[in-house]
Amino acid sequence: MTNFCLLQQSVRMGHFLSLTTLLYLLVTSCSGSPPSNFILLFADDLGFGDLGCYGHPTSLTPNLDRLAADGLRFTDFYCTSPVCSPSRASLLTGRYQTRSGVYPGVFYPGSRGGLPLNETTIAEVLKPLGYATAAMGKWHLGVGKNGMYLPTRQGFDRYLGVPYSHDMGPCQNLTCFPPDVKCFGHCDVGVVTIPLMHNDAIKQQPVDFLDLERAYSDFATDFITQATRKKQPFFLYYPSHHTHYPQYAGPATAGRSRRGPFGDSLLEFDSTVGNLLSALEHTGVLNNTLILFTADNGPELMRMSRGGNAGPLKCGKGTTYEGGMREPAIAYWPGTITPGVTHELASTLDIMPTIARLAGAKLPMVQLDGVDMTDILVNHGPSKREAMMFYPTDPSENYGLFALRLGKYKAHFYTRGAGHSETTPDQDCHIISFLKPHDPPLLFDLESDPSENYPLSPLGRPDLQALLRRIGVVKEQFEASMEFGESQIGKGSDPDLEPCCTPHCTPKPSCCQCG
Ligand SMILES: *[C@@H]1O[C@H](CO)[C@@H](O)[C@H](O)[C@H]1NC(C)=O
Ligand SMILES: *[C@@H]1O[C@H](CO)[C@@H](O)[C@H](O)[C@H]1NC(C)=O
Ligand SMILES: *[C@@H]1O[C@H](CO)[C@@H](O)[C@H](O)[C@H]1NC(C)=O
Repeated sequence: MTNFCLLQQSVRMGHFLSLTTLLYLLVTSCSGSPPSNFILLFADDLGFGDLGCYGHPTSLTPNLDRLAADGLRFTDFYCTSPVCSPSRASLLTGRYQTRSGVYPGVFYPGSRGGLPLNETTIAEVLKPLGYATAAMGKWHLGVGKNGMYLPTRQGFDRYLGVPYSHDMGPCQNLTCFPPDVKCFGHCDVGVVTIPLMHNDAIKQQPVDFLDLERAYSDFATDFITQATRKKQPFFLYYPSHHTHYPQYAGPATAGRSRRGPFGDSLLEFDSTVGNLLSALEHTGVLNNTLILFTADNGPELMRMSRGGNAGPLKCGKGTTYEGGMREPAIAYWPGTITPGVTHELASTLDIMPTIARLAGAKLPMVQLDGVDMTDILVNHGPSKREAMMFYPTDPSENYGLFALRLGKYKAHFYTRGAGHSETTPDQDCHIISFLKPHDPPLLFDLESDPSENYPLSPLGRPDLQALLRRIGVVKEQFEASMEFGESQIGKGSDPDLEPCCTPHCTPKPSCCQCG
C-alpha cells in the first residue's frame, strides 16, 4: 500500500518525480510490497569524526560501517541545535526548536515544561496508518507533572529508557573494566538518582548501566517480533545515551575498543545496532525497513579524550561552528537505497516529511521547516533544501540567526565559544570567546574550507557581494516566517517533579531507590 499511496499522492499533488524514482515506485507498488518500517537511531554528543566509516582511526563501529557501506552516507547533514533537547524537538517535529519553544538549553529532571503536546511527532504522523510505535533510550523532551510529557503522550505505544541525560543524577558504577569506574568529572548532585522508565512508570532507580543496553536490545527485539507477527508496520525511535558523558559500557564491550571509555561506549551502541539488524533479519523485514542514523549535536570536547571528535570540523557542542551541528548520517534500506555517498544538503528536519512521504502519511497542518528527501535516498538525487539555519543554544528574536548556510557558503552573523567545547587548541571554541557580531558576516566556502579556517573577503569580489545580498534576503524571509513559541525550558524546575519511585519517602532525593 505504501508506495502505491505515495505515487497517487505525488501525482495528485503534482510533484515532479524523476524517471528513476517513478520506475522504482511502479515496480515496488506492483510487487505489492508491504508498508515500510522505520528505525530512527540518534546518537548523543557524537561528532562528525567519530565513526570508523567517517575516518576515525581507532573507533570500532562494524555495524554502523556496514549500514554506511551498504547504504547512503551523508557528508553535509545538520542537526538544528548544538545541544540536546532542542535538537530532539526538531527531529521529531520537522520544525526548528524556536517554533515549539524547546529553548534555551535543555530540560532538567524537574522541568515544568516539555515538548508541547500540540506539536505533532513522527510517531503521531504514523499512528493513523496503524503503525506500532516505540521509543527507547534518552527522551529529553520533558517528564512534567504526572509524566505528561513522556513519549507515551507523544504518539509512542511503548517506552523504555532514561527520560533525560544520564549525568543529571549522582555518579554510579559505569563499567566493569577496569572495575569500579565512576564518572570522570562530576555528575549532578542534589537530584534523584537516574530512573529507568517503562512507559509511564519507574522500573528501576538508579538504573543499572551495566545491563542497560541488553535491556534495550531485548525491548527492541520483542517490539519488532510482535509487530511483524501481527503484520503491523512499525516505527522504532532509539535515541541512545551513548556517547554522552559519562561514558559507560556493559560486560560485552567494556575494554574491547582501542579508544578507551568513549570507544567502548560507542562500540556498545554499535552492538545494539547489530542486534537490531539481527532482529530485522530473523523476522524477514530487513528489506522493507528504512534505517536512519544521525546524532543530536557535536562532540563535547571539554571531556577531552573521553569526549567525541569533530574530525576536520571547527569546535563542537554548544557552538554554531560546523563541529557543533554537522553530523554523521546514514540511510540504509537494502534493495531500495543504492550504496554511495551524497554531498547533498540535508537535516534532521527533513526526516519527518521523508518518513511521511514514504509511508503515505498526512503531514500536520503546521509550518514545517523540513523538506522531503526521498529523491536523495532512492535516487541519489538533488536536495530540495537550499539553506540551513543555525540558532545558538539560547535563541532569541533579538539576535535571530547566528549563521546561515546557503548552498556551499556559510555566513556567520555572530560567533561565540562554549564551555562544552573547552580544552581544544582553538581559542575560538572556548567559553572566553564571547559573543562577537560580524558585519559583514564571516563568510566561508564549506566545500573548499570545511574547517572554517579562511574567511572570504567580499572586497573587490562582486560575486561574493551579490551572494551576501542573497543570504541577507534568505535570512530576512526566514526570520519573518519565524514565530517563537513560548519558552518551555524558561518555565523552570520544581524538585517535586523529579521522577521518584517512592514518592513520599524521606530524605529526598537520595531515598528514591527501587530494585
Ligand atoms: C500550541 O499551543 C500554543 C498555546 O496555545 C500555541 O501558541 C501554539 O501555536 C500551538 N502550537 C501548535 C503547533 O499548534
Ligand atoms: C560499585 O562497585 C563497587 C566496587 O566494585 C561495588 O562494591 C558496589 O557494589 C558497586 N555498586 C553498584 C551499585 O553496583
Ligand atoms: C533483500 O534484498 C537483497 C538486495 O536486493 C537481496 O539480495 C535479498 O535476497 C533480499 N532478501 C529478502 C529476504 O528478500
